[in-house]
Amino acid sequence: MHQVRPTTGDSNWFVNDRFGLFIHWGLYALPARHEWVKQREEIPGDVYDSKYFTRFDPDLYDPDVWAAAASDAGMKYFVVTTKHHDGFCLWDSKLTDYKATNTPARRDLIGPMAKAFRDRDMKVGFYHSLIDWHHPNFVIDDLHSMRNHPDRAELNKTREQQQYIEYLHGQVRELLTDYGKVDMLFYDFSYPAGSRGRAADSVGKGRRDWDSEALIKLTRQLQPDILVDDRLDLFDVPGGWDYRTPEQFMPRAWPTDEAGTKVVWETCQTFSGSWGYHRDESSWKSVDQLLRMLIEVVSKGGNLLLNVGPTGRGEFDDRALDRLRGMGAWMRRHGRAIYGCTAAPPEIPTPQNCCLTWNPQTRRLYVHILAWPFKQLSLDGLAGRVEYAQLLNDASEVFLREPTPHQLEMGGADAGAVVLDLPVEQPRVEIPVVELFLK
Ligand code: GLC
Repeated sequence: MHQVRPTTGDSNWFVNDRFGLFIHWGLYALPARHEWVKQREEIPGDVYDSKYFTRFDPDLYDPDVWAAAASDAGMKYFVVTTKHHDGFCLWDSKLTDYKATNTPARRDLIGPMAKAFRDRDMKVGFYHSLIDWHHPNFVIDDLHSMRNHPDRAELNKTREQQQYIEYLHGQVRELLTDYGKVDMLFYDFSYPAGSRGRAADSVGKGRRDWDSEALIKLTRQLQPDILVDDRLDLFDVPGGWDYRTPEQFMPRAWPTDEAGTKVVWETCQTFSGSWGYHRDESSWKSVDQLLRMLIEVVSKGGNLLLNVGPTGRGEFDDRALDRLRGMGAWMRRHGRAIYGCTAAPPEIPTPQNCCLTWNPQTRRLYVHILAWPFKQLSLDGLAGRVEYAQLLNDASEVFLREPTPHQLEMGGADAGAVVLDLPVEQPRVEIPVVELFLK
């Protein structure tokens, strides 16, 4: 029904599961003021390390607790930063000393995490930063934490990006060899000159600086089913990407490729703005906003990857837990309107103040009612097509009827509409959903 661009990796589970957890965790949890802090404040490497690397000690870290919180929220997969732009590695890489095992944490943090989430039947995803502000051979560009260093040109003379490429590929080999099945890989990110509003004379990085074509080959060779994001700068290469990743905004409609074909997509979103733990941010989204986001995403055929930035002690903070719990309470009763669902068939119009999701297997259509109407909701184009309707939260019947002549005369409904008779009082759930069994 919806034609979707096929993926090279396995996206069957992905478009069924719809809701995942992003985890941004690393040394930047200690400054607690954005994961780009090293770059934003141009903190010299020795200062960054003497303050944070020597003190990274997540003594309360228990990945079972994280996995439980995610699973109870209704999430079905997770993606963790194995390394972020500051170059710090959460696993015991043999290719660097800049890793968790050499901090007071003294252990590999990735293995136990993958196990804890797998134990709850969740899929495993790795985020891996292409950017690295720590590696001595990573050529200093316009985004680098040392971009304004007075000796930048001089320093770059001895930097061999090729050496960095070998390091990058070597680490990916470790991650995709030592941790069992990895279901997805989120490479982050490419910024060649001239791309996405960047000046043509800016100094960025793209496919040549990562040897992206070899990297994606290696990725798929080590994990044949793996689903890979779209940030390797390989849009024009067959198999160069599997899914699009609109970040921190809502696409107006289901994203398409240049040919206009719908693509597999996932929006990644934060609770409060930054990805790493941020103590002082006061722009937290409410449970209601987050649920609308999830519903809207699925109504456009996409996935939501919602981020938590754990603290330096190794916990999800209370504001994150509150939201996960709130979403979980809704998901427990309404998961059926999310999992296995996609955009409604295009010929079915979306009623005012609603989002529609559709399960093509069960032929059930879900009307998510974002603003509770007074008694009636008319669904255009569905006359004669609905067998039964109920509120999803309590399986209570919703009467279906034809529009009255008066309604038709006054523009209250369309001739081909079926009208839902709703209770005056909104059901006591965050966002009520009517489940329609279509013929
Ligand atoms: C960005 C940022 C980053 C974050 C990521 C998540 O590209 O650089 O901090 O990890 O997006 O998608």
